[in-house]
Parts: sequence; C-alpha cells; structure tokens
Amino acid sequence: MIKYLATACALKIFSLSPQTKKMYRFLGNTVGARSRAKAGLPASYVYRAKRILSIFEKYNIPQEGAKLIELGTGWVHWESTVLRLFYNAEFTLFDVWDNRQFQAYKAYASGLCDVFDNEIGISSPRHKEARKLLEAIVTAHSFAGLYDLLGFRYVIEPTGTLRKLGPETYDACFSCNVFEHIDQAILPEYIKDIYRLLKPGGYSFITIDLTDHLEIYDQSVCKKNYLKYSDAAWKLCFENDVQYFNRVQREEWLNLFSQAGFELVEEESLFQPVRVRVNKKYEGLDKKNIECVTLGIVHRKPISHHGQT
Ligand SMILES: C[S@@+](CC[C@H](N)C(=O)[O-])C[C@H]1O[C@@H](n2cnc3c(N)ncnc32)[C@H](O)[C@@H]1O
Repeated sequence: MIKYLATACALKIFSLSPQTKKMYRFLGNTVGARSRAKAGLPASYVYRAKRILSIFEKYNIPQEGAKLIELGTGWVHWESTVLRLFYNAEFTLFDVWDNRQFQAYKAYASGLCDVFDNEIGISSPRHKEARKLLEAIVTAHSFAGLYDLLGFRYVIEPTGTLRKLGPETYDACFSCNVFEHIDQAILPEYIKDIYRLLKPGGYSFITIDLTDHLEIYDQSVCKKNYLKYSDAAWKLCFENDVQYFNRVQREEWLNLFSQAGFELVEEESLFQPVRVRVNKKYEGLDKKNIECVTLGIVHRKPISHHGQT
C-alpha cells in the first residue's frame, strides 16, 4: 500500500500546473519509449492482435475500402497497424495529445515479425501479402514515412471530444484501454458522437480496463482497490490529471451505449474476485459489476432507428 500511496502522491504533484504536466509528458514519452523499446513486444499485444483480427473477421468488416477509426491510438498505433496488414482500408488514428513513440513502434513491429508466421492471421489468404507489408513497416524511418506507406491519418484533438468528426463516416471504430481515461463528464456526449460518426450498421469494438491503474505500481493491492473510496476521498487523494482514470463500472458503460442508441451484440469480459470492502457508492452493484476487470464490448448502430428505414 505504501507504493500505491507514494505513486498517487507523485502523480498529484505532476498534476499541479501546466509546467509540471508538461514535464510529466516529456518524461513519459522519453523514458516510456526507451523502456518499451527495450522490453519489446508484450504477450498481451500479441493477444490483442489476434483478437482484433478475429473480431473484424467475425463481423465481416470489408477488407477493401472500409473507413475505420481508432480512438486513443497511443504510442504504437497497435490495433490500426495490425488491421492495416490485412485491411486495405482508410484509417483515422485519433488521440488527444501526441504521445507517439517511434522506437517502441519499431520494436513492437519487429516483435510482431518474429511471431507472425506462427501466430497472426495464419488462415488468411492475405497472410503472405500482410507479411511483406510488415517487413516494409519495420524498415520505416519515421511516423511520416509510415503514414505514407499505410495511408494513415493521425488526428490530435486536445479537447478530447469527437465533435469535429463528420456524421456517418466510418464502418467501424475500435479502441483498447482508452475509455477509462476519458473524462467522465463528457462520456454521454462522447458515446453519442461515436454513434453519430458511424454509418448505419457500423460497429464499435471497445475494450475497457476497469482495474485500478495505481495497482500497476503496487501489486500488493487488489485490482479493484479504488472501490474502497468515496468520491470525496478519491478526488482528494488519488485522482490526478496526468494519469486520469474514471471509475465507471460495467453496467454504467452498457447503459451509456444503449442510451446512445447502440445494440449490444457481444460482451467478452473478464472477472476477478475482489477482496476489499467496497464503499457505499458501490454497494448497490452486483458481483458482475464489482468483479469486472476488463470489459470487451461489441455494439452495432442499427440500420433503422426510431421508425426510420
Ligand atoms: C493507456 S493509453 C492506450 C493507448 C493504446 N490504445 C494502447 O493500448 O497502446 C490511453 C490513451 O487514451 C488516450 N485518450 C485519453 N482521453 C481520450 C479521449 N477523450 N479520446 C481519445 N483518446 C483519449 C490517451 O491520450 C492515450 O493515448
């Protein structure tokens, strides 16, 4: 618990002013890039690569000419890169600040090359072609060169909203480990905007990490340790701007999507026993909500809505 408290304190200090936040981001980008490049491709990213490909195949997303958007693309554009190997589609890579890490990107792409023949899209008729493209990616010298090769459009929107994106533009949107970082106050609008920017019949493939992100620094605490705290205690002692995460739970997420007009087509979530006494705020939640650590949800925008055809 000491590391948990010390990390929360350090993150609060980094959140004090625009200057300290800038310093945090600079350190995050330089130190983060170095350590990711050194550690190489994590096994979880190989799993994610296989999962996004299988889910796109399952829902018949067209391999030619689709328009796709990744929300919170982060440091290595992971899902977009993997999909692009097999999908000759137009990709928009959306984020709220530039946290790209080219060294890490290259290390992950090389790592993918190493496992590609045995693990990635092996039953696809495009496997050979995809491998060739991956080999070209590994030789890229910059993100600009990479975007030319892959036709990626990288969009930074510091307000964190999707308001500027046009309606009925995309066949699918996807995102991994991002929604827990979106300001809770803008979530209803954000999810309505996803609905707006998808074409009728379009899909949303979202994975949300519901764990306490301070647990990464102190694995002696429960993965959902944050459930112990009231809103007031959380805000005062733990919530910070540089590694913000909301504490929105499974049922609230499902409600937000359904209120925006989406149909839930599939849920593949992970659950783990919780060994903390939950705060009053969460007492009304059932076991499935309390114990959900990863929420994997597929939604579809109906083709006709409210009597329209
Ligand atoms: C934990 S990182 C995940 C990055 C990437 N998806 C991955 O897993 O490698 C969270 C990302 O969410 C982004 N983010 C935060 N708020 C966002 C918002 N309102 N819209 C889109 N992305 C956002 C952050 O900038 C960051 O890149």
